[in-house]
Amino acid sequence: MSCLRLLTLPFPLPIKHKPKPMTITAKQLKEQFISLFNQEPIIVTSPGRVNIIGEHTDYNDGFVLPAAIDKAAYIAVSIRNDQEIHLVAQDLNESFEGSVTDLHPAADVSWPNYILGSIAQFAKLGLVSQGFNAILTSDVPMGAGLSSSAAVECATVFALNELLHSNLDRLTLVKMAQKAEHEYAGVMCGIMDQFASMMGKKDHVIKLDCRSLEYEYVPFKLEGIKVLLLNTNVKHSLASSEYNTRRSECNQAVEWVQAFQPAVHSLRDVTEAMLDEYVLPKSALIDMRSRFVVQEIDRLVNGCKDLQNGDIRSLGKKMFATHEGLSNMYAVSCKELDWLVSHVKNNDNVIGARMMGGGFGGCTINLVKEEAITSLVESIKNEYEKEMGLPLSYYVASIEEGTQIINA
Ligand code: GLA
Repeated sequence: MSCLRLLTLPFPLPIKHKPKPMTITAKQLKEQFISLFNQEPIIVTSPGRVNIIGEHTDYNDGFVLPAAIDKAAYIAVSIRNDQEIHLVAQDLNESFEGSVTDLHPAADVSWPNYILGSIAQFAKLGLVSQGFNAILTSDVPMGAGLSSSAAVECATVFALNELLHSNLDRLTLVKMAQKAEHEYAGVMCGIMDQFASMMGKKDHVIKLDCRSLEYEYVPFKLEGIKVLLLNTNVKHSLASSEYNTRRSECNQAVEWVQAFQPAVHSLRDVTEAMLDEYVLPKSALIDMRSRFVVQEIDRLVNGCKDLQNGDIRSLGKKMFATHEGLSNMYAVSCKELDWLVSHVKNNDNVIGARMMGGGFGGCTINLVKEEAITSLVESIKNEYEKEMGLPLSYYVASIEEGTQIINA
């Protein structure tokens, strides 16, 4: 990849009113960085992700099936001669200043935290003595469940690893990016998003065992079928608090089972029979939450077999079942997501559909026959907008490579 796609880079900064976005190349980003900071940057891109099936399974030691997509964050970074941090968010027309001697999450603005949290991981290893300049831009829609934050974290840790000559491997960088999210965004996320962004491979999904971190690339080039993302345009604002609550509910179930079955360490080790015996009598709610996860881990393993056997219809059915579970048992959907899934469910051109990511808004992922995409969107757009009072946007995602340096 040698040029940035559809970047919106208004310059010079600061700008009071957002100018019309323009598309620029990596070369232009580099030139603009040089004119702003008078230094040569390194430019790194890291993609957003989709997940075919296996939701809320990563922090329960289960499997996930994500892939990197053609929407990505781009960061241009250089090392400063002092200890200051100067960050610019192009798309927001905002800048931020801090210092590597006083690293902490920013209080009233969120975007710098993904970069600061990433710098903090290198600082903890004693690898940071000077400050950084950075310009960030991204075409991963924010709050759409496509992991815009993981994309920024992965781009940042990768860039710092290069600039500081730290020689850390990709898996270590994935874990550092995840820690940045935990410590600077306050979301106790699993490893899926950062793993997918960093390790993505063109035209493949990643079957990742979140316990052992062993992974396998499974080809995902389906003849005549595309990945269509329908964005509810509901920002998942509830997501971080409810996400952390779901984690604790799962941990509670594990604790109750573990009291009788010491070999159990996570919901990955739990069966539905164990839930019947040890969890249901104590709490119907915790039982329902953990039962979803136990079923979802199983669904993914079988869905992966479907994919390998070329039985895409069977995989699609499982995606619909995942949505039912996420909505009714795990309670992380919302009326807009449910609306979108129910309105494509009986359409024969839609192989499978479900809400995707943490929940409470963002996108549904749909596997749709290519020739039917336009008519499908046309058939639901007006009704969605009228009934939900929100715009409906859509993207056809292609599956791309993970984090990489761009030579400008
Ligand atoms: C968010 C988290 C991931 C994962 C998904 C749900 O995207 O960042 O770690 O838990 O939710 O599958």
